[in-house]
Amino acid sequence: MSLFEKFAAAKQLRAGLASAGVDPTGVVFDTLNSATEGVVKGRRTILAGTNNYLGLTFNRECIAAGVAALESQGTGTTGSRMANGSYAAHGALEAELADFFQCPHAMVFSTGYAANLGVLTALLGRDDAVLLDSDAHASLYDGCYMSGADIFRFRHNDLQSLERRLVRLKDRASRCLIVVEGMYSVLGDCAPLAEFVTLKERFGASLLVDEAHSLGVYGERGRGVAEAQGVLDKVDFIVGTFSKSLGAMGGFCTSRHDVLGLFRYVSRPFMFTASPSPAVVATTREALRQLRSRPELKESLWSNARQLYNGLKDLGFELGPEVSPVVAVRCKDRESALANWNQLLKDGVYVNMMLPPATPGGASFLRCSVSAAHTPEQIKAIISVFKDL
Ligand SMILES: Cc1ncc(COP(=O)(O)O)c(C=O)c1O
Repeated sequence: MSLFEKFAAAKQLRAGLASAGVDPTGVVFDTLNSATEGVVKGRRTILAGTNNYLGLTFNRECIAAGVAALESQGTGTTGSRMANGSYAAHGALEAELADFFQCPHAMVFSTGYAANLGVLTALLGRDDAVLLDSDAHASLYDGCYMSGADIFRFRHNDLQSLERRLVRLKDRASRCLIVVEGMYSVLGDCAPLAEFVTLKERFGASLLVDEAHSLGVYGERGRGVAEAQGVLDKVDFIVGTFSKSLGAMGGFCTSRHDVLGLFRYVSRPFMFTASPSPAVVATTREALRQLRSRPELKESLWSNARQLYNGLKDLGFELGPEVSPVVAVRCKDRESALANWNQLLKDGVYVNMMLPPATPGGASFLRCSVSAAHTPEQIKAIISVFKDL
């Protein structure tokens, strides 16, 4: 058997998409006109499938901060912080995150994916157990697998399922880690974090929450679902990314546990990859400053989310369970998802196609995501294109 035979399934998948005239991974934005509009094959296209929740990717101050950092510190760091040292801005960003989350410790990684690998592999080892929400992001799964810990999945957002597994763990429950997200990326639903905290305290377990999609979106000060549910100080580890609401790249972890300070010496996805570049750190810091000082961004985001969710609901589409900046439209089957996605793109609206097996319940979805930068006219246009499907 050749080394390459295992690619037969991927080849078949690609051929199937090509025969349906669809290539979601091949969409090219020739130019970008703004945070919410691009040009695809010469056609102006509304971007309704990004994670640009606060619409900061074209923010003048963020761009200026990035340009100034490029000019003064160069294009890249050319190495890891362990080997090549840190730039002052890395530490400044960590201090700003610690202050924002009111936590003694914060650590920055080169991507959100690396943050999850880095934290989970540092925290967990072969003798440990991890309880993982079944709908968790691939980076959380990968981190758990890489750690060598025993992995037990529980049903998505299901308190009783989690409790049963904690009971079964007996003495091991007190040294296990529960891993969940704040807002989930496909359906836009939120974890019952307050209840999870009560449960983890009862068993003496620890809780890690990935707020990748909730930063800047939930909580009075935009700190995520844990803040919105009043349990920010009870969560043991918060991880997140700069690549969504902050419009940059990179990941982070904050914690009230001193052990986070030791991750720098043991976390391979931190130690063995180049540190974030000066421009990326500068735009992230400016975006975080804006997230903190401009609550109107979150208000616009939610107003747009309500407009899109209610507009599509009124048209009779089957949506996720709650109003959210992620509006997932459930399709009858895979074929209708492919055809509708194609039609939307032809009509000038880009959304994400979500197909099994990477979807909850094995269903097919067209995932729309809303930005604070969408205008009410753009949201109206998205609804109107859906109406024509
Ligand atoms: C829940 C979650 N965690 C982590 C990540 C990884 O973040 P990044 O793309 O910044 O590496 C993502 C990205 O989609 C995500 O959805």
